[in-house]
This record gives sequence, structure tokens and C-alpha cells, in this order.
Amino acid sequence: MKNILACIIICYSAISQANAADTEQLTQESRAAVMALGSELKTTLQASIKANGIIESISVCNIKAPQISQKISDEHGMAVGRRSLKYRNPKNKPDDWEKSVLEQFEQRKANGEAVSTLEFSELTELNGKKLFRYMKAIPTDDVCLNCHGDNVAHPFVSKINSLYTDDKAIGFKKGDIRGAFSVIRPVN
Ligand code: HEC
Repeated sequence: MKNILACIIICYSAISQANAADTEQLTQESRAAVMALGSELKTTLQASIKANGIIESISVCNIKAPQISQKISDEHGMAVGRRSLKYRNPKNKPDDWEKSVLEQFEQRKANGEAVSTLEFSELTELNGKKLFRYMKAIPTDDVCLNCHGDNVAHPFVSKINSLYTDDKAIGFKKGDIRGAFSVIRPVN
């Protein structure tokens, strides 16, 4: 009886350690994918603003952002996207898990954590499938205010409204959480 108990305890702790190691590895791979996406989006946006100006760059975000997300997802073998409580593109609307993580990030920010360090990962289940999920907060910077700020200028508003009929992604201030990168990976 003692032996069985010991075995159960040892086996259980071995499994949970394996899970912890897997989670760490999956988290690191997710961080790498998210960093790749973040830096490619930033470089593309900056190059476009320099070459074509801000207004023309709206279409970069509109057309290129989903393409770049797809490319990075393929390259890294996981689904990587962007989500926000106040989203512009309805495709970036968070699901229940993502919404609760975004709310958790707002709470942690209110408790004094730096937005640039907010991240969360979890092994979870969706429709009976085991998933690894990861999110990392995206801070609002000065350049973002051109298209997501309080006083987005008139030509922007009409261009943005012509592309997105129910835009919620305005009224942000520097330092706010603009949204978060979100990674989903099926696991065995
Ligand atoms: C030139 C205008 C423009 C600028 C500047 C800009 N964005 Fe956006 N942003 C957009 C558009 C357009 C979308 C919708 C993209 C889509 O359809 O997927 C968007 C979408 C997003 C999303 C996805 C969630 C959503 O609202 O749909 C995030 C997150 C985001 N932007 C963050 C930022 C951050 C952070 C910055 C500054 C580094 C920034 N943006 C600068 C135009 C802009």
C-alpha cells in the first residue's frame, strides 16, 4: 500500500514537472513568435509612414497586418494574432479566455506592473482539445496615437470609418494597454 502511494506521489510529481518544463518551453517559443510579429509590424509601419505618410499607412495596417500575422504563424507553427478589449477589426475580438486575460492585465497594470512585462500562459482546453495559450500585452506608444488616440484627425477618421464600420480602437493614451498578442497551440 505504501509503495503504491509512493509511486502515485512520485509519478504525479514527475508528470507535473514535465508539464512545467513543457509550459516553460512553449512559453519561450511563444515569446519568440510574438517578438517576431511585433518587430515586423513595427518595421513595416515605420517604413510606410516614412515613405507614404500616416494616412496611406492605414492600409498597411489594414492589409499587411493580417498577412504578416499569417506569415509569422506559419513560420512558427502556431496561431499568432492580436486582440484588444477595444478592437478595430472584429476579427481581433477576444474570445472568453483572451478577454479574461486582457482584464487581468488591466488589473495588474492598476496594481503597478509595467505594461511591457505583462504576459500570461496556461495549459487549457477548448471544445475537448488540449491547448497551450499565451498572451503578451502591447503598450500604446506616441506613434500609435495617430490612429488610436483621443484626437484622431478628421481625414483619418473618415478613412478608418470607411474600412471599419464599428471601430472601438480610439481614445487610447500613451502607456495604455492597446491590446495583446495572443498565441494558441494544440498540445497532446
Ligand atoms: C496608420 C494608422 C495606425 C497606426 C499608426 C497604428 N495602428 Fe494599430 N491598427 C490600425 C488599423 C487600421 C488596425 C486594424 C488592422 C486589421 O484590420 O487587422 C489596427 C489594429 C491594431 C491592433 C489589433 C486590435 C484591433 O484593434 O483590431 C493592435 C493591437 C494595434 N493596432 C496596436 C497598435 C500599436 C501598439 C501602434 C503603435 C505602435 C499602432 N497600432 C499604430 C491602424 C494603425
